[in-house]
Amino acid sequence: MILDNHPFELNSKGHLEIGGVDSINLANKYGTPLYVYDVSIIRENCRSFVDTFKDLGVSAQVAYASKAFSSTAMLQVVKQEGLSLDVVSQGELYTAIQADFPPSKIHMHGNNKSVEELSMAIEYGIGCIVVDNFFEIDLISKLLKKYNKTIDVLIRVTPGIESKTHQYIMTGNEDSKFGFNLHNGQADKAFLQLYNNENIHFKGLHCHIGSQIFEADGFKMATTMLFKKIGEWNKLHDYTPEVLNLGGGFGIRYTKEDTPLPYSSVVKELVAKVKEHASMFDMTIPEIWIEPGRAIAGNAGLTLYTVGSKKDIPGVRSYVSVDGGMTDNLRPALYQAKYEGVLANKAAQPVTDLVSVAGKCCESGDMLIWDLPVPEIGSNDILAVFSTGAYGYSMASHYNRFPNAAVVFVENGQDKLVVRRESFHDVVKNDLSYE
Ligand code: LLP
Repeated sequence: MILDNHPFELNSKGHLEIGGVDSINLANKYGTPLYVYDVSIIRENCRSFVDTFKDLGVSAQVAYASKAFSSTAMLQVVKQEGLSLDVVSQGELYTAIQADFPPSKIHMHGNNKSVEELSMAIEYGIGCIVVDNFFEIDLISKLLKKYNKTIDVLIRVTPGIESKTHQYIMTGNEDSKFGFNLHNGQADKAFLQLYNNENIHFKGLHCHIGSQIFEADGFKMATTMLFKKIGEWNKLHDYTPEVLNLGGGFGIRYTKEDTPLPYSSVVKELVAKVKEHASMFDMTIPEIWIEPGRAIAGNAGLTLYTVGSKKDIPGVRSYVSVDGGMTDNLRPALYQAKYEGVLANKAAQPVTDLVSVAGKCCESGDMLIWDLPVPEIGSNDILAVFSTGAYGYSMASHYNRFPNAAVVFVENGQDKLVVRRESFHDVVKNDLSYE
């Protein structure tokens, strides 16, 4: 049963329930398409990382990668759970400020940070900038002089490990737009520039090896590579990092094929590896930082759609179309990502049909799910697609001038609108007349 793969239940009416609320009531109250988050699952995900570090007694920061899903309410929940925050743009930083996120717990990423972005980060006194390239070192140095301020930085390095569909490959000469290459001298050159800069407090190293990773091996390989370099810098410059940031990428279950290890197990293994290397190099254990995005928001969210038209092609397939699609979930079209779903109003009924779920956009590639087993399906049924909490709303578009869908949070049987549905006025509000 599909529900076995997802943290939701059926109620006595046979409807899908989320956070103690009937999903059909939510669809009726707020309309569809609708992103719905069970806040207790967001909190549980946050705690599974934070508590594991606490139990292990190591200093750590768990920074939510807000690109996965950024909204004022989401960042408020993450703040309540004591996490730090990873932002990659002025828009994400602005949202964090709106949510009253403590600036000292915000880290800024980006491979092309602008003067405006860096200025805002420095003015707010954010906790850390993750420096990505030489151009940026120059910009930060100039801005810090102008503001007469100092800032903590990490250096982002590319260790030459990539996670490809849950396996790791060594890519020798890393071909990436992000970070300093660890092996060709660039990281060493950047290290010296940062280490010797009087306005910069060089806190440590960062790497991010990929996304939707199911085990600890890749993080452990990255740790080994980073420590190799740290060992060199320690010998040459007596440098000991205060922080080691191993990035995000912790995988979630989209379909039954996905089998991520519990986050606590992955964290335990990577902490053990860091400790092992620190002791090998006779160094104090650095603070360990990680940046989970998908693992915090992904499985806590689902999307409700209303079924509209149906097209049967005898001997080929049945298409059913819903009132959203690639504008609210780009991942199937962009990455051929797979999802599971149920008819929320018929979730207890036996499966009899196989349908392919199409979006509304004027584009053949706008398909949400191929070959979904469902009970007898008709227009006005409500389809719930699971695990849409990460990179759904955050990657939404206005293609075909669809207004962006609303977001509702549910917790303890209460629902609350946290992002309004866009109106057609919102869609045209920046248009200017040419007559
Ligand atoms: N830290 C850094 C430096 C990153 O680049 C990313 C994701 C994360 C953390 C968070 O990764 P997560 O824990 O969410 O896997 N749009 C794609 C995912 C792009 C991820 C980019 N960087 C998707 O929908 O699968």
